Amino acid sequence: MNERKPVLNFFAVSIFPEMFKIFCSFGIFKKALEKKLIGFQAINLRDYTTDKHRTTDDYQYGGSHGMVMKVEPFFRFYDAFVEKYGEKPTVILPTPKGRLFNNELAMELSKKGNLIFFCGRYEGIDERISVLVDYEVSIGDYVLSGGELPAMVMMDAISRFVPGVVGDFRSVQEDSITMGLLDYPHYTRPEEFRGLRVPEVLLSGDHKRVELFRLKESIKLTALRRPDLFLKKDFTKQEKMAILEILRELLDGAQ
Ligand code: ADE
Repeated sequence: MNERKPVLNFFAVSIFPEMFKIFCSFGIFKKALEKKLIGFQAINLRDYTTDKHRTTDDYQYGGSHGMVMKVEPFFRFYDAFVEKYGEKPTVILPTPKGRLFNNELAMELSKKGNLIFFCGRYEGIDERISVLVDYEVSIGDYVLSGGELPAMVMMDAISRFVPGVVGDFRSVQEDSITMGLLDYPHYTRPEEFRGLRVPEVLLSGDHKRVELFRLKESIKLTALRRPDLFLKKDFTKQEKMAILEILRELLDGAQ
């Protein structure tokens, strides 16, 4: 029996707790749950209502279309949580109004003990929820119909920073985006498919050349697709050398 206690426990409070079942049933997240490296519970918000219809939403004050989620069931869940665990959790509110989620934030959140996602629907949750919320987070500039998918996206990225969840932890720490660059392209067999060849250098067995090739590809991709990341990056000496070689190749090609 594995008596280990998870280092990081996720909780998602939602009116659709079943949405999380499939997410927990596959891949790295499932393995991490089995190994008790992380914990997860989906909580049905309706269990924290008190009326016979188990109401979780209502019309909004001031008028306008759309319903707003009531704040009381979330508070009731929060109070019960603090009572049960004897400590305050870290509460995340997925919302398009929040700060943008990224790997840095994922790493920061991976160090908290208990992380609760309050998943809203409709026009969101009554603003007074902010009293309980530590982080308002958006996963991108688009509007989804609820906080469940963003919560799953965040849990996936956060759990990767828990030691043991990804086989080789160094690979997470050295992940291209963590290092401020986009990932280089990857290839597997066959060497040629419908006339499309794997770059010759990857077949050379020359590790130094392979490393330089990958670094140059990462730098080119980042500069072209994500100039914001490129401009923010503090380049190492090795990366600067790679940039010089890219420029040299460009000049050679132009002649
Ligand atoms: N809820 C609805 N859209 C969202 C988004 N883009 N990020 C986080 N939560 C959301």
